[in-house]
Amino acid sequence: MSELERIGVSLDRKLLGRFDKLIADQGYRNRSEALRDLIRRRLSEDELAQPSARAVAGIFLVYNHHLPGLVQKLTSLQHHHLLHIISSTHIHLDHDNCLELIIMKGRVRDIKQLADKMSSLRGVKLSRLNLMTAGE
Ligand code: NI
Repeated sequence: MSELERIGVSLDRKLLGRFDKLIADQGYRNRSEALRDLIRRRLSEDELAQPSARAVAGIFLVYNHHLPGLVQKLTSLQHHHLLHIISSTHIHLDHDNCLELIIMKGRVRDIKQLADKMSSLRGVKLSRLNLMTAGE
């Protein structure tokens, strides 16, 4: 951590009470750590709103692997995109369904584009993209 600076914040008592309850439920030991995390999250969201920002992301896909060509399409999309695919994990959920988690790195716009292409393939039933800044 770089140099620390102390700040004073004036807050409505009710609002502070709700905040204290929330952070206690989440397991924070003090307000400072909770506030730091809140600020980091807000800054990260702001950064991720920029299409050119660098990000890491995970996309969860649930799909029916019986559908002809779907597995090949998912694979070829990953090969042809200008993203760094860090890893992918495949789990056989049941007789018909697979879960795939693909972790990648790249620009927000490229990640979203790949995620949209995969999610919209016929046979993909559920998808969820989780984007994060790299924590700089
Ligand atoms: Ni499978």
